[in-house]
Amino acid sequence: MKILILPDKTAAVSSAARTLADKVRDQPTAILGLATGETMIPLYRAILEISVTEFLSFSKISTFNLDEYVGLPFDHSASFRTYMQNWLFQHADFNPELTHFLDGDAKDLILETSRYEKLIADVGGIDLQLLGIGENGHIGFNEPSSSLASRTRIKTLTKTTLEANKIHFKDIKKMPLYSLTMGVGTILDSRQCVLLATGSKKASAVAQMIEGPVTATCPASALQFHPNTLVILDDQAARDLKMRDYYEYVHPGINNVT
Ligand code: GLP
Repeated sequence: MKILILPDKTAAVSSAARTLADKVRDQPTAILGLATGETMIPLYRAILEISVTEFLSFSKISTFNLDEYVGLPFDHSASFRTYMQNWLFQHADFNPELTHFLDGDAKDLILETSRYEKLIADVGGIDLQLLGIGENGHIGFNEPSSSLASRTRIKTLTKTTLEANKIHFKDIKKMPLYSLTMGVGTILDSRQCVLLATGSKKASAVAQMIEGPVTATCPASALQFHPNTLVILDDQAARDLKMRDYYEYVHPGINNVT
C-alpha cells in the first residue's frame, strides 16, 4: 500500500483528483470503478474543475459504480445513479452508454449481479477503482463479515451503515435494508485501487485497514493483498495510525502538496 497523508481535507481531495485526472489524460479509454458517499463529492467537484482547466475529456471513459440500494428505481433521489448524475456525469462529456450501474430494482437480482460481473469481465476489467471507506471498515457495501473472496452480490446493510446514510431518505422507514455491491474479490481484481478517506470518523477503520490483521471484520483490510493500492488520507483520518512517522518518511514532502 502506498499511504499518502495530507495536511487537510482540501489537500487530500486535490491529491486524489490529480491521480484521477492523470489516469484520464494518460488513458482516455480507461475503465474506472466509481464510488459514492459524502467523501467523493468534493473529489468529483475537483476533477470537474481540472477537466475544465486542462481540457480533459471523459467521452471514451467507461465507468462502473460499486454498488446500489435494492428496491430503488434509477431516478429515486437517493439512488447512486442519481448521485452520479448530480455530482459528476451531467457536468462533463461522459457517454451515457459507457456509464454502468447495478440495477437495484431488477426483477431478478441474482441475474443482475452476474450480468454486472460479466460486463466488467467483457470490457477487460477495471483499470482504476475509486473507493471510500465506511466507519465500520466496509468498501462498496461489503459490510463486516463479507467474504474477502466475494463477487458482486446482494448484501444486507448494517445498522451503522443505515444510520450513516439515513439523511438521504425522507422517510427512514422506507430506507432499503439491502444493497447490490461489487464483492471484495471483484474490487481486488481491479488493476489499481485509490481509496480516499477524510475526517476523524474514519480514523479507526483506516488504522484497521492499514495496520490491522486482514480480516472479514474489516473488509477494507483485504486491500493489503492488492499489489497496487494508493490510500490518500487527511490528517484526521490518519490520526490512529501507529506507523505514521514511517509513512511520512517514505513520502517526504507530501505534506506540502496542495
Ligand atoms: C457508503 C458507500 C461506500 C462509501 C462509504 C463511505 O455507504 N457504499 O461506497 O465509500 O459508504 O461513505 P461516506 O463517504 O459518505 O462516509
